Amino acid sequence: MDNTIDHIGFHALDVVIMAAGKGTRMKSQRPKVLHRLAGRPMLGHVVATAAALAARRVVVITGHGATEVEAALAGSAWAQGTFELKFVRQEPQLGTGHAVQQAVPALPDDGAVLVLSGDVPLIQADTLRALLALSAGQQVALLTVELPDPTGYGRIVRDQVHGEAHGGARVAAIVEHKDASDAQRAIREIYSGIMALPARLLKGWLARLTNDNAQQEYYLTDIVRFAVADGVPVRAHAISDALQVTGINSPAQLAELERAWQRRLADGLLAQGVRLADPARLDVRADPRLDRPGELLCGQDVEIDVNCVFEGRVELADNVRIGANCVVANACIAAGAVIHPFTHIDGEKLGVTVGAGALVGPFARLRPGAQLGAEVHIGNFVEVKNATLAAGAKANHLAYLGDATVGERVNFGAGSITANYDGANKHRTVIEADVHVGSNCVLVAPVTLGAGGTVGGGSTITKSTPPGALSVARGKQLSIANWQRPVKHKP
Ligand code: UD1
Ligand code: MG
Repeated sequence: MDNTIDHIGFHALDVVIMAAGKGTRMKSQRPKVLHRLAGRPMLGHVVATAAALAARRVVVITGHGATEVEAALAGSAWAQGTFELKFVRQEPQLGTGHAVQQAVPALPDDGAVLVLSGDVPLIQADTLRALLALSAGQQVALLTVELPDPTGYGRIVRDQVHGEAHGGARVAAIVEHKDASDAQRAIREIYSGIMALPARLLKGWLARLTNDNAQQEYYLTDIVRFAVADGVPVRAHAISDALQVTGINSPAQLAELERAWQRRLADGLLAQGVRLADPARLDVRADPRLDRPGELLCGQDVEIDVNCVFEGRVELADNVRIGANCVVANACIAAGAVIHPFTHIDGEKLGVTVGAGALVGPFARLRPGAQLGAEVHIGNFVEVKNATLAAGAKANHLAYLGDATVGERVNFGAGSITANYDGANKHRTVIEADVHVGSNCVLVAPVTLGAGGTVGGGSTITKSTPPGALSVARGKQLSIANWQRPVKHKP
C-alpha cells in the first residue's frame, strides 16, 4: 500500500492525541488519562481507536505526569500496531493550540491530521472515519454534538442565514464558553474537541495563534476563524451520540461514563438474546494484566445473574448459566455448564476451560490452566490450578487440585489436597481414571495413583499406588476397652 494514501483513499493519516493536561479535578496522583474506563486507561482506548484507523503515525502530547504516561503507553499491547508511536512534551501547558504546536515537527506536510483528546475515551472509529471523509484531506471537519447543557464547552457559531435551520448554515467560529456572549452561550451545538484537517493548513494557522482571550491560552479552536478568513471550508459532522464525545474531568464523570458504557454493552447482549437478570449490574472489562480488551462472547440461551464481572476474553457457549456475583476472566465455558454464585474463575495467560455440562461452585476458584472436561463437578471451596480434570471427575468440597492430571470419573474427597510444592519446585500429581480419593488426604507430589484405586480417608500418600488397590497411609486405629476418663482434681 502506498504510504501516503490511506485505506479510504485520502492522504496518510497522522493522529495527534492531546494528553498533557493536569486533570486537577480527578484529585489523584495518577495522570488523568491513565485512569481506567472498562478496565483500560482512557488513553489506551483512544490509541486503540487510532490504531483501528490505520494511522501512519500517532503523536501523543504529554506534559503532566509525562514519564508515567509515556511508560504506560510504550509498554502496552494496545499501543502496538502498524503505526509509529511518538511522544512530544508540552511544558508548560499553555492551551490546546500550544499543545498541537509542539507536534508540528512530528507531522509530515502531506498528511491528514486528526486531533483527539486523551480524556475523551469512547470515540468510535466509524465516527472518525466519517469525519475524515468529510475533511477529505482538504478542509476542516469538526466533530460536534448538541447537548441539553452545553456549559463549559466551545460553541459552534454559524453564519446567520435567513430562514435556514442552523444545520445548513456555515460554521464561522468556535467560541469558548468563557469568551462567549449570552447569545452564544445559548447555542447548544458544541465542539467535541475532535477535528480533522490537512497538516499543511494546520501548520500555517497554528503559527498565527495568540492567547488574547479570557483564559490567556492558545486555543486550537481559533484556527476555525483563520480557515474562514482564508476561504477554506469548515464543515461540522454533528453526531447525536453524546457518549462518544463525553470528556472526563472528575471521578464522578468517570463513573457515570463507565456505567453508560456498560449499559450499552449490556443492551447489546440483551438484543442478541442473552438473558441478563439486570442489565445495570453487569461489567465487562479489559484485563489490565494482559492489556486484553473486554470481550464477552455468548451463544444462545445464556443466562447471567446479577453482579457478574467479566474480564479479558470470555466465551460462554449455548445454555451456559452464570450465577450471581461471579468474576470470570479469560475463560471458555462450554455448552450447558453452570457456574454457581460467588465463583472466581481467572484464566490469566493460560486460560481456563470448563467442559460441557460441568457444574462449578458456589464459592469455587478456578485458576490459570484449570481445564475441566464434560460433566465435571467442582463444589464449594475447591481450588483448581494448572490441572486437567477428565470427563465426570468430581471434587465437591474443600479441596485443592494443583499441577494435577485427573482421570475420568475420579472422585476427590472433601478436604483432600495435592501437595504440589516442596518449597522450591512444583511437582505433578497423576490420578488415573476411576480412582476414589477419600476425605482429608494429602497426595505428596510427584505421585501417581493407579486406575481404579482407592485411597483411605486421612492418608498421606508419598508413594505411587497400584491400580485397583486400597491404599491407606495413616496411624492404625486403636480402641482401649473400658477406658476411664480423667476426673477433675478436688481443690
Ligand atoms: C476544549 C475545547 C472546547 C471543547 C472541549 C471539548 C479548546 C480551546 N477548547 O476545551 O472547544 O468544547 O475541549 O471537551 O480547545 N491539553 C493539553 N495541553 C494543554 C491544554 C489541554 O494537552 O495545554 C489537553 C488536555 O489534557 C485534554 C485536552 O487537551 O486532553 C482538552 O483540554 P481541556 O483543558 O480539557 O479543554 P477544554 O477547556 O475542555
Ligand atoms: Mg481548559
